[in-house]
Amino acid sequence: MIHVSATADPRQAYFDRLAPDWDRTGPNPQATLARLRGLAGRLGLRAGLDVLEVGCGTGQISGWLAGQVAPGRVVAVDFAPGMLAQARARGLDVEFRCVDVCAPGALEGRFDRVLCFHCFPHLRDPAAALAQMRGCLTEGGELLVLHLAGSAPLNAFHAQIGGAVASDRLPSAAEWEPLLRAPGLRVVELEDREELFLLRAVGG
Ligand SMILES: C[S@@+](CC[C@H](N)C(=O)[O-])C[C@H]1O[C@@H](n2cnc3c(N)ncnc32)[C@H](O)[C@@H]1O
Repeated sequence: MIHVSATADPRQAYFDRLAPDWDRTGPNPQATLARLRGLAGRLGLRAGLDVLEVGCGTGQISGWLAGQVAPGRVVAVDFAPGMLAQARARGLDVEFRCVDVCAPGALEGRFDRVLCFHCFPHLRDPAAALAQMRGCLTEGGELLVLHLAGSAPLNAFHAQIGGAVASDRLPSAAEWEPLLRAPGLRVVELEDREELFLLRAVGG
């Protein structure tokens, strides 16, 4: 099923344009996976869990995720068809869906983990997206927001790139609590330093 909002979001075309070269010009995929392997224990991923990956791009980490949780399933969503085309071409045991996570009713299903990797700052309506993500967490499920850089360098980087992502910001530690309260989430862990941003939140 396709859930792409009619809302014009310039980021959709922006990421579509980047898609063919993303694995070469974006963050280095091998370096990303090496760091994720080191963080695996902190992400609470284990066999049998179902995972929703939000903003999966070309699926750089989707196969790794699937390996962590098999026989649990991974559903990976993005709203840029070009990104998804690259992701599907990998032939992974992952279900890729074209979804705008800021659109009402966007997310279907229930998941033990919702992982927003290198994506959250680009969600044009963070409150709407968080409500969607909260709505598909199982009882005891966790939302993970992960970046391999802290909010300060990341926000400076987006401002420097300019264009559609110039004002895309990862909230700082103090901003998360009120943002998560509205959809009924609370922080269980938050680390924001130069080389890592990791947020874990649960319902309630
Ligand atoms: C910086 S890229 C990161 C992609 C991937 N996570 C990676 O690490 O390679 C951010 C991704 O978020 C997606 N995205 C942005 N806003 C979105 C939205 N509202 N709904 C779904 N995906 C969105 C973009 O299309 C893009 O693929």
